[in-house]
Amino acid sequence: MKKYISYGILLPAALVLAACTAKPAVKSIEERIAEVLPQLTIEEKVAMTHAQSKFSSRGVPRLGIPEVWCTDGPHGIRPEVLWDDWNQAGWTNDSCTAFPALSCLAATWDREMGLLFGRSIGEEARYRKKDVLLGPGVNICRTPLNGRNFEYMGEDPYLAGQMVVPYVKGVQENGVAACVKHFAVNNQETRRTSTNSVVDDRTLYEIYLPAFEAAVKEGGAWAIMGSYNLWNGEFNCHNKRLLCDILKGEWGFDGVVVSDWGGCRDDDQAITNGLDMEYGTWTNGLRGAPSDSYNNYHLADPYLQRIADGRVGTTELDDKATRILRLIFRTSMSAEPHYGRFNSPEHYAAAREIAAAGTVLLQNRGSLPLSVPDGGRLVVIGENAVKKMVVGGGSSNLKTKYEITPLEALREAFPNANVVWERGYVGDVSTSYNRVSTGQDLSDPRPADKLLADALAAIEGADAVIFVGGLNKSANQDNESTDRLSLSLPYGQDGIIEALAEKVPGLIVVNISGSPVAMPWKDKVNAIVQGWYGGSETGHALADVLTGAVNPSGRLPFTFPASLDDGPLKTERQYPGIQVEGEQWWQEYYDEGVFVGYRWYGSKGIPVCFPFGHGLSYTTFEYGDATLSKSSVRSDGQIRLSLEIDVKNSGERDGSEVVQVYVAPPAGKVERPAYELKGFEKLFIPAGKTGKATINLGSRSFSRFDAEAHEWVVDPGKWRIFVGSSSADIRSEAVLEII
Ligand code: BGC
Repeated sequence: MKKYISYGILLPAALVLAACTAKPAVKSIEERIAEVLPQLTIEEKVAMTHAQSKFSSRGVPRLGIPEVWCTDGPHGIRPEVLWDDWNQAGWTNDSCTAFPALSCLAATWDREMGLLFGRSIGEEARYRKKDVLLGPGVNICRTPLNGRNFEYMGEDPYLAGQMVVPYVKGVQENGVAACVKHFAVNNQETRRTSTNSVVDDRTLYEIYLPAFEAAVKEGGAWAIMGSYNLWNGEFNCHNKRLLCDILKGEWGFDGVVVSDWGGCRDDDQAITNGLDMEYGTWTNGLRGAPSDSYNNYHLADPYLQRIADGRVGTTELDDKATRILRLIFRTSMSAEPHYGRFNSPEHYAAAREIAAAGTVLLQNRGSLPLSVPDGGRLVVIGENAVKKMVVGGGSSNLKTKYEITPLEALREAFPNANVVWERGYVGDVSTSYNRVSTGQDLSDPRPADKLLADALAAIEGADAVIFVGGLNKSANQDNESTDRLSLSLPYGQDGIIEALAEKVPGLIVVNISGSPVAMPWKDKVNAIVQGWYGGSETGHALADVLTGAVNPSGRLPFTFPASLDDGPLKTERQYPGIQVEGEQWWQEYYDEGVFVGYRWYGSKGIPVCFPFGHGLSYTTFEYGDATLSKSSVRSDGQIRLSLEIDVKNSGERDGSEVVQVYVAPPAGKVERPAYELKGFEKLFIPAGKTGKATINLGSRSFSRFDAEAHEWVVDPGKWRIFVGSSSADIRSEAVLEII
């Protein structure tokens, strides 16, 4: 007998079931804001606009609106600090995965790595219940001396813009806001809170803003941090032109502007000039003050007082509260729950992969990849082979679960060799920062001549010798709040390298730093590797590249000049700034304009130690001919074209090549850099195979900023399009006629 289903019974049951399982219509963030904002009192709104502790600001408990919690950033989640003190709180569950510093991420020239980095650090932030990650930093490397270059993404606005976008997206996928910093023209640490950067509009728009613009317009960043310095005579944490006109006006930024810690300096401008949330280094802005006096902040009692006595209205306050609510609804009160992950094996694997992908093989005359016979002797010289460097450097200081040093990793990589270490020099013996300690004892009583003699004795009978030195994160090196004093390596390392090179023809030098250093011994050594502050997995990543387990594919994100004198900053007024009569603040003139980094060296034909974009591989690549999808375009329409080029891996190992596209303008009325990076693609190509790079170019690729007209313009004429393996190694060329 056939069974009939009675729809008469099933239908109502299905409806009930559907009604029970159907999700209630989710209100949009804007609807939620519209509902909540009118319920807030003036006091509640003001309370949300300033800090209540070192890293948090108040919510509205009456309405179940949570506090906002921030954390540094940008390459790991900072250990918890005390409520009103910078020392760590001593928690035992806040040791994070330390990812590589951002100069390393930029050196990967790989957007996928940007996304992996952002996702992984975003997960760690979410797990730690942080709503705002104070990073990434995208200030341009204007001088190799800037103490914070290691936290930024190099000297080129296009590269930094391309790398910041996936990072921001990855972080924000986790319901954590990326807070892109430090907005803007904050390119040195010397007198960072009392220097006015004098930069013309063209330079501002072409060099110093594009990475921020990309983070906002393409990355959709939910937060921006103002910088400590002034631009155009106004402090940048409440700089009307930067924040109201450009960021929120021209770019349509709908997130929050957060002050740098203590960067808010004026009661009135804090209200009117685009700042939304004020945080502090001390409880009274930048100055030491009685503790726990957050009510003294510019956006606290002084704000309430101004509203009470009618000096200001509440329009700005409503805008700030709207933006803060939007931040909260995007993060801790997001309709989509996020839980995060902390210290997962995947995060450590990501840290290792990014650190290896960013490691740059600068020179190789045959010593690499490294092989040491079983029972052989590998001698490692240099402090950076053993010094743990996740700790230190300023606000990016981290406490990590573990940090693999280069020496440990080399011992692991060559278990059957005798891996011997000698220090060679004593540099920085400090092992703790804000009470986070590496647990190492780096003291060494030997004088310099004994250290060198011991190193030279150790290399006797060596099968291979590696020097691992460079900078570290102590004052006047790669460190917040101070700049470096010279381009040279510290602690007499140049002399030690020269002495080793005299005895070891195959010497391998590994430089660990976050900014360019001078290498006067370059021609005397066999191989040079640029490593970075690689985080928890730094040693493994370096050993992966040295041994060839990973074929190097990093490219320099900034030029390594031969000497500082060759660079564009020639005068004190350019760097580090001067005092000018009648001016309250130090003045620093960006007289070099857009000629920063390779834009300077390339245009002037000045030889450098290693050029921007440079990096070798253990295989070789042959470029075909570049072809453009169009040979001519109109200057007054939307330009859209693509460039294609075949690249063959002509060697015997699989490897990745970074195909770089630079555009060279025709001669015109305005002086322009000889060529500028406008596209790149990292291609993985198996040995013997050919890959194809396809790179899109648009109007912006050919534009310069016309300050008078306040718009981007394209100059007609014959444009040369260079395709190469670095800014100084052009392999193919095409011509585009712009009419
Ligand atoms: C730094 C910021 C950092 C903040 C909080 C400031 O001194 O400039 O980059 O996010 O402190 O630690």
